[in-house]
Amino acid sequence: MDHNAYIPKLAKIIEITEEVSGERSIKTFMTEFIHKNDFSFCSGQCAMLSVFGKGESMISISSSPLIKDYLQFSILKMGRVTSALHEMEVGNIIGIRGPYGNGFPMEDWKGKNLIFIGGGIGLAPIWSVLHSALGKKEDYGDLTLIYGARTSKDLVFKKELEGLRKKIKVHLSVDMEEPEWKEFVGFVPVNVLDKKPSPDNAISITCGPPIMIKFVIKNLKDLGFKDEQIYTTIENKMKCGIGKCGRCNIGMHYVCKDGPVYSWAELKNLPQEY
Ligand SMILES: Cc1cc2nc3c(=O)[nH]c(=O)nc-3n(C[C@H](O)[C@H](O)[C@H](O)COP(=O)(O)OP(=O)(O)OC[C@H]3O[C@@H](n4cnc5c(N)ncnc54)[C@H](O)[C@@H]3O)c2cc1C
Ligand code: FES
Repeated sequence: MDHNAYIPKLAKIIEITEEVSGERSIKTFMTEFIHKNDFSFCSGQCAMLSVFGKGESMISISSSPLIKDYLQFSILKMGRVTSALHEMEVGNIIGIRGPYGNGFPMEDWKGKNLIFIGGGIGLAPIWSVLHSALGKKEDYGDLTLIYGARTSKDLVFKKELEGLRKKIKVHLSVDMEEPEWKEFVGFVPVNVLDKKPSPDNAISITCGPPIMIKFVIKNLKDLGFKDEQIYTTIENKMKCGIGKCGRCNIGMHYVCKDGPVYSWAELKNLPQEY
């Protein structure tokens, strides 16, 4: 029988971390495949996760491709499928199909300084590419993370961020003043202007809410970054993930195949359907 691209591989949840609690809850799921298979991916790619009887959702792979033992996903509770995922426990089985999308062109970035700029759950795809670069640090120049969320409670990977400070420059922000907060207060794009990353020999990678991305790009341009030096990912709604259903189009582009990673040089010429 021909291989059916819609049939997921079975994976067991081996660890769950509650990153953010409350209404906009975020959990990180570590999963391992039940059966050995040839799943391999690059940073920026996604996978379609299924909760049997509920449906499927496209989620970025947040672990580094250098780690072969498990796949990690960080998931914001939104609706039917993501809520069902949040109900799951260690040992439960989900479906995974993919990997999908183009991923970040990390080979082209060798020798360059990388500036990662994230907002909220947008740190998930960045986490993969950042750890990919950290795993091969000798291939890249300086690594910097500028990351923010609405409040300190909404920051993901809190514990890991403290460890990360020992390895790279980390600049955090929250949107509004908090009694114990000692770092930047204000929106992520404003923190970018405050930290003034240099465009010299640099690539900037930004993921987050569309409004944040819009102003981060504007501010990077003001700092002298060229369109080709700015990369982002977009999250058009997806159904099939394999360029068949036409759900994710921007003009002639299928974001599930041609994206979700775009340089601003590419994205600015596409219709604003994202
Ligand atoms: C390429 C890609 C990568 C993604 N990576 C992540 C990730 O790493 N972590 C994560 O938490 N989420 C990620 N998402 C978003 C995630 O796919 C949706 O939040 C999820 O599919 C919602 O499914 P649901 O059944 O829980 O919600 P539904 O019941 O389908 O919808 C609930 C609400 O969510 C909105 N919604 C549904 N899909 C999307 C979407 N794609 N973008 C914006 N709003 C949506 C609906 O309009 C509705 O308001 C990604 C999406 C794409 C396309
Ligand atoms: S999700 Fe079906 S064509 Fe992209």
